Amino acid sequence: MNTKQKILKYLEENRDDFISGEDMAKKLNISRTAIWKGVNSLRDQGFVINSSTNKGYQIDKDCDKISEFGIKHNLSDELKEKDIDIIYYDSIDSTNTEMKRRLYSEKLNNYTVIVADEQTGGRGRRGRDFISPKGSGIYFSIVLFPEDNFDMSSFDLVTVRAAVAVAKSINEITDKEAKIKWVNDVFVDGKKVCGILSEADSDFENRHIKSIIVGIGINFSTKEENFGELKNKAGSINPKGVLRSELCAKIISNFYDIYYHQSNESVLDYYTKYSNVINQEVEFELNSKKYSGIAEKFDEKGNLIVKLDDSNKMTLSSGEISIRGDFYR
Ligand code: BTN
Repeated sequence: MNTKQKILKYLEENRDDFISGEDMAKKLNISRTAIWKGVNSLRDQGFVINSSTNKGYQIDKDCDKISEFGIKHNLSDELKEKDIDIIYYDSIDSTNTEMKRRLYSEKLNNYTVIVADEQTGGRGRRGRDFISPKGSGIYFSIVLFPEDNFDMSSFDLVTVRAAVAVAKSINEITDKEAKIKWVNDVFVDGKKVCGILSEADSDFENRHIKSIIVGIGINFSTKEENFGELKNKAGSINPKGVLRSELCAKIISNFYDIYYHQSNESVLDYYTKYSNVINQEVEFELNSKKYSGIAEKFDEKGNLIVKLDDSNKMTLSSGEISIRGDFYR
């Protein structure tokens, strides 16, 4: 860790207090000049750091610059103890792509997180782009490595668990209510605020998954003009009194808990309770044919069961549905 990172870590861990330059210099075993230089360099990077001659330094309470230390400081006790790796970029093409690059070039620990303040080539499902402007979103990827007998069926509920983790985190720490649109989009105030892209590296012959990358993109305070033609469908959470690092840490912590500790039943209960499609009239396309029906329930794999009429039902395992009369809900 370089001097600037040490200072940032210390300031993030003591966000509630002013820290004198002298105390910090002693604690970190560096000179006061190095502290002064480091603080200025952090300011140049975008951190708002207040200083007062008598009291010292403090990150401004409204400073929403995301950082690996801000995230780490807000993780659950379980993850703090595990000391997971969090790799931060001011800008990257895509955190999922970077995770893949690293998977091929180095040995990563389970549950390594890559997070970025901006993505220049953010990727969505079905080959779409994911708009990822600087300073206003949360873009991150988590890598999961299989335990001994991790076969293809274990993949089924990964994205469902991730969607539940995002919705639950928004519902727990913000003033907004999140809903989940099957399969794994999260909505606030009727607009999509989060998309999830899960990618697996598998050994098809042995039906084994070597790793899964779960990529989560959140419009936190993204401005409407950034969405361009998607502005009627995409929105931001715009929560009051919550920072990006706090929400990111909450999602990372909740996903760990949900993925490793919670039963399929309890995950599907939450998924159903916060779904915005159940009991709605939905439309979808399959092999170029259009269908409509009532979304009835999810099965044990998170597939959506749609009642087409009194005698016909369909089970959807992937794809996209629209809620009648309101395309993107
Ligand atoms: C979708 O809505 O279609 C899925 C969007 C997923 C976006 C996230 S942002 C972090 C990670 N990196 C990417 O390039 N994509 C995912």
